[in-house]
Parts: sequence; C-alpha cells; structure tokens
Amino acid sequence: MEELIPRHVAVIMDGNGRWAKKRLLPRSAGHRAGMNRMISLSDHAFSRGVEFMTLYALSAENLSRPREELDALFSLFREYFLKNAAILEQKGVRMKIIGDLGLIPADVSDLVRAGEEQTRAGTKGTLTLAIGYGGRQEIVRAVNEAVRRGEEVDAGSFSALLSTAELPDPDLIIRTGKEKRISNFLLWQCAYSEFYFSEKMFPAFTNADFDRAVADFAARDRRYGKI
Ligand code: IPE
Ligand code: IPE
Ligand code: MG
Repeated sequence: MEELIPRHVAVIMDGNGRWAKKRLLPRSAGHRAGMNRMISLSDHAFSRGVEFMTLYALSAENLSRPREELDALFSLFREYFLKNAAILEQKGVRMKIIGDLGLIPADVSDLVRAGEEQTRAGTKGTLTLAIGYGGRQEIVRAVNEAVRRGEEVDAGSFSALLSTAELPDPDLIIRTGKEKRISNFLLWQCAYSEFYFSEKMFPAFTNADFDRAVADFAARDRRYGKI
C-alpha cells in the first residue's frame, strides 16, 4: 500500500545554536547551516508529495535575542530571499510569510513582500515561512478584527481571519532540537495536528529523518474525537 503523505507539514526548526556550540562554532554558523538544511528539506518535502510546508523561522519572542544574533539572522534572511525567490518561482512553489513583518528591518520585509509577489502564480506547493510569528498575537489580532467588524464568529469564520486563512490546518508538526513544546506556534491551527519530536538539532535533521517522521505519521490513527 502506498504511504499516506501528510498534505501540510509544519516544522519548528529548533537547535541551530546548540548544533553550533557543540562544534565550537558561533551561533550564526548554526543559523547558516539551518538555512541550508531548510532549503533542501523543503525541496524534499514537495518531492514527496507534501503540498504545504510551513517553517517556523523566527518567533515574535525571538526578537528579544541579542542584537548580534538578530543581525546575523536578518543577513541570512536577506540572502535567502534574494537568492531563492527566483528559484522558487522556477519550481512553481508559492512563497508565503506569516508573522508581524513590522517587527523586522524594513529592507528585509520589502524582500519578503517582493518574494511573495514573484512566486504568486506557483501551483506546485506552498512554502510558508513564519517570521516574527506568534500564535497568541495572531489570535488576538483576529479577535480585534472581528470586534472591529462587529461580527460574531464561529470556528470557520475565525480561521478565515488568521494569517493562515488560505492554508489547511497542519497534519503533522515536527519539532527538532529535543524540546517538547509548541513555543507559540500555530496555536489555533494545531487542534488536531499530529506531533513528532526529534532529538536531532535542526541542521542535523536529514531528509531521511523527515521520511521517518512521515512514516510515523502514516501509522497513526487520527480519530478527531470519534471512536
Ligand atoms: C532555532 O534555533 C532558530 C531560531 C529560533 C531563530 P535556536 O537559535 O533556538 O537554537 P538553540 O535552541 O539555541 O539551539
Ligand atoms: C522556537 O524555538 C522558535 C523557532 C524555532 C523559530 P525557540 O528556541 O525560540 O523556543 P524556546 O525558547 O526553546 O521555547
Ligand atoms: Mg531554540
């Protein structure tokens, strides 16, 4: 029987800093290795038939890290968007960003917007990057929007007010880097997601590790409250 492939996989890409520390490298080297891994991993996921890949790249809370680390991360984002928007366009992958772009440098958010625009026609997969993202912040924003409109919401119309409105809920959420927590990621959307925790630091999480997570997912029984 063919393996069941999750339609939407989200990854909490944690462990870049510890990966670098173990190798006596600066944290920024861990972030660079993580970025390279992220590019290859998302290609791999789409080649396996995943339609939506959502990657937690920077949380709203991460923005209170030291200036030096943030500068290194923003440089990597610049490089990523400058190089990859055209590559994604060519592959037919649409890029989408969720999170508060007001929290990041204006030139980076301009690149992000340009990348979204450039890849808008892609139909071969959706790559969503969560940058400056916080699940609680997103929910609060949606509540305020409903209040502003003077509309009562139900679960469906509320989902449509979130930044993930066009995405199905994640089927599988993978977290690398040993920790077993959600860290303010997709709080509303994860209601019936399957979770997979890997001990590996993100730069060491291979495509084969991803396949193991998918195989694990395929063997689960999703009951959604039923028997
Ligand atoms: C995840 O790696 C990437 C970001 C949060 C930007 P970390 O930077 O959190 O790495 P660790 O957890 O310190 O190892
Ligand atoms: C979660 O990692 C956020 C991202 C991977 C972008 P953190 O390193 O920020 O999570 P905590 O602080 O350990 O919960
Ligand atoms: Mg971390």
